[in-house]
Amino acid sequence: MAQTWSKTDWRNKERIQMPDYTDPAKLAAVEAELSRYPVLVFAGEARKLKAQLGAVSRGEAFLLQGGDCAESFEAFSSDNIRDTFKVMLQMAMVLTYGAKVPVVKIGRMAGQFAKPRSAPTETVDGMELPSYRGDIINELAFTPEARIPDASKMLRAYTQAAATLNLLRAFSKGGYADIHQVHAWTLGFTEGEQAKEYREMANRIQDSLDFMASAGLTSETNAELSSVDFYTSHEALLLEYEEALTRIDSTSGKWLAGSGHMIWIGDRTRQPDGAHVEFCKGVMNPIGLKCGPTMTSGHLKALMQTLNPENEPGRLTLIARFGAGNVGEHLPRLIKAVQEEGANVVWTCDPMHGNTIKSASGYKTRPFESVLREVREFFAVHKAEGTIPGGVHFEMTGADVTECTGGVRAVTDEDLSDRYHTACDPRLNASQSLELAFLVAEELSDRAQANRAAM
Ligand code: PEP
Ligand code: CO
Repeated sequence: MAQTWSKTDWRNKERIQMPDYTDPAKLAAVEAELSRYPVLVFAGEARKLKAQLGAVSRGEAFLLQGGDCAESFEAFSSDNIRDTFKVMLQMAMVLTYGAKVPVVKIGRMAGQFAKPRSAPTETVDGMELPSYRGDIINELAFTPEARIPDASKMLRAYTQAAATLNLLRAFSKGGYADIHQVHAWTLGFTEGEQAKEYREMANRIQDSLDFMASAGLTSETNAELSSVDFYTSHEALLLEYEEALTRIDSTSGKWLAGSGHMIWIGDRTRQPDGAHVEFCKGVMNPIGLKCGPTMTSGHLKALMQTLNPENEPGRLTLIARFGAGNVGEHLPRLIKAVQEEGANVVWTCDPMHGNTIKSASGYKTRPFESVLREVREFFAVHKAEGTIPGGVHFEMTGADVTECTGGVRAVTDEDLSDRYHTACDPRLNASQSLELAFLVAEELSDRAQANRAAM
């Protein structure tokens, strides 16, 4: 199949959730320019991630995927990137501590710009305009001009993604992520119960590091201690952008989506005959597939066959997003479909997209309790089925925003207006993210105990 697939085949399929550009000449010029730009990620990195996700599918590692709902041009700053990276490192440390396995870290970063929307237009004070679809397509401002899709925004998104990835690479490999910095990552969140819990854990890690150093194991002798692998991911929604960055890997002769290490297919664009599935099936990257309440066993089986015909471990990650209270109804039948096919998949839990509500104050929000409840239900179903809960997928930021309600440092309905900065869906703030990591780690330590008992 890979031989006959072409990166333009999606153009013959039904395209949904993508803009109709009004200036075809400009679009063609942008696509031609992007096609000359360097890829952002390399095939060897995508292969390495796939191998690590293969370990996740066997329960030998755990996946942490997180970042913005939508990256924006306005919020682009090195501090924002650093803070999200830092919280993810902290969360990964907490999860490793609980799960006793390595944590594979993937940011929703360096390309997470295009957004599917529940309605093609929105109406405010009687004025109806096309919906905002992410900074790579149009603008959030509620004016007719701002909402016109503009192809040149793809070039700006590419530049921002390249700069973001450059900084992430420097943070990952240049000393910042050295495990000996485990205390330093906490700077900036010195208050609160989970900060204390984190410091205590960091002290215990420090003791182990001191012991290891006395046995001759230091960052100088062991690269694993001085750097991390940090991968990027986004929803492959805007296929003109994806196609332009798709290239043949000279080593393997396979197609690589060069826009990010992992790409995923959203819950609204996973039609087995649709454009997005057509595009994703032909590239060698790890692929994510959002599974919401309307995913049938038949669809899932067809999609697994199309997207992972060789049943390669680490190729396909199923991202369950049913909403708190609904996991028991949907997850077991999809787990059964996977088992009937003997499919290798990673199961991960996105407790964000099924739990969005409108607050009394009018803001789109997500209650922390619902997020946590969905995670717990996900773990409970996997425990009952004897299958592997492989990871979690969060919309989160390192910044101290007030977008999701609840948490130990409780954000109330009234607080939402204080620092509500998201360009799209509400994100967990740094403190809520860390709190959640501790709660997931508790669930994981059960998993670790079960694994030890089985040995
Ligand atoms: C998202 O992850 O931002 C998203 C839109 O999710 P879903 O496709 O699951 O609704
Ligand atoms: Co979202």
